[in-house]
Amino acid sequence: MAVQVSITKEDIARLVFEVKRLYDFDFSEYAEQSFRRRIEHVLVTYGAGSIDELIKKIKADKDLLQKFVNDITVNTTELFRDPDVWLNLRRNVLPKLKNKTNINIWHAGCSSGEEVYSMLILLNEMDMLFNAKVFATDINTEILNRAKNGIFNSRLHHAYFDNFDKVIKTNPLNFEETIDVPYDKYFEIDKAKKSFMIKEFLRDKVTFKYHNLTEGGIFYKFDLILCRNVIIYFNTELQNKVVSLFHESLFQDGMLLIGAHENISYLPVGTKFESKMMKGLYFKK
Ligand SMILES: C[S@@+](CC[C@H](N)C(=O)[O-])C[C@H]1O[C@@H](n2cnc3c(N)ncnc32)[C@H](O)[C@@H]1O
Repeated sequence: MAVQVSITKEDIARLVFEVKRLYDFDFSEYAEQSFRRRIEHVLVTYGAGSIDELIKKIKADKDLLQKFVNDITVNTTELFRDPDVWLNLRRNVLPKLKNKTNINIWHAGCSSGEEVYSMLILLNEMDMLFNAKVFATDINTEILNRAKNGIFNSRLHHAYFDNFDKVIKTNPLNFEETIDVPYDKYFEIDKAKKSFMIKEFLRDKVTFKYHNLTEGGIFYKFDLILCRNVIIYFNTELQNKVVSLFHESLFQDGMLLIGAHENISYLPVGTKFESKMMKGLYFKK
C-alpha cells in the first residue's frame, strides 16, 4: 500500500523556488491547501520519499516538469456543469450577444473541453454558432489533447446526459415543456466502447492552446471569458493578476463568468467591473 508523505510549508517553498529557478515556471501564488494535497499525491505516484527527492528528479529530467504540471492540476469538469448556470446563460446572458457579427469567447482553464463543447452546443441551439470564434486554453498539455479529441466515456459520465437534457431539452420559453434534441445531433455514440465523440463540426470550431494564466499576456479581445473553477486554486495576489488580465482582454461591456462557488473578493486597482444578472457574472465597465 502506498504511504502518504506529508510535507511542510518550507518543503513547498523549496520546491516552488527550484521549479521557478530551473524552468521559470511559477507556482508561488497557488492557494496552499489544495496545492499541498496535490504535491503529496504526486510524491506517492512518483515514488519519491521526500520533496528533495522530487526536486532531484525534476532537475535531472526537464520533461518531467510538464508531467509534474499535468499531475499537479485539478481537472474536474462536466458537460453543462452547474446546469442552472447554463440555463441562465441561455435565457438571459447569451441573447445579449445575439446581434453581434463576431462573438469572441475564451475558456480559460478549459480542462478536457466539456465546458467548451457545452457552449458550442448551446450556441448552435441558439443559432449563434456561426458567428462565434472560440479559444480554449490550459496549462495541462495532456488534458488539452483529450479536449481536442473530444471523446468521453459515457459509462463514467451519466450526469452529462442528465445535464444535457436539463439545459438543451428544456424549452427556454416554457420551462414545463421539453423539446426533442437527439443526442446524435452532437455526439457520435459508440455503444460497444461505451463512449461518445463530439461531432467534427463542433471540434473544428475551437482553437485549443497552451496558455499559462500566471504568465499573463493578452492574445485577443473577447466578448465573453469563462474562467470557472480555476481561480479557486489561486491566492488573492494571483486572482488579482488574472482578473486584471481578463479586464484587459475584454471589450467594453464584455463579460467574465467565474465558477458558481467562486468569488472575486475585491477588484484589483485599474479594473472596473459591474456584477449583475447572475452570481459570478461581471461586466467590464
Ligand atoms: C477544475 S478545472 C475547471 C474546468 C472547467 N473550467 C470547469 O469549470 O468545468 C481547472 C483547470 O484550470 C487549469 N489551470 C490551473 N492553473 C492554470 C494556469 N496557471 N493557467 C491555465 N490553466 C490553469 C487546470 O489545468 C484545470 O484544467
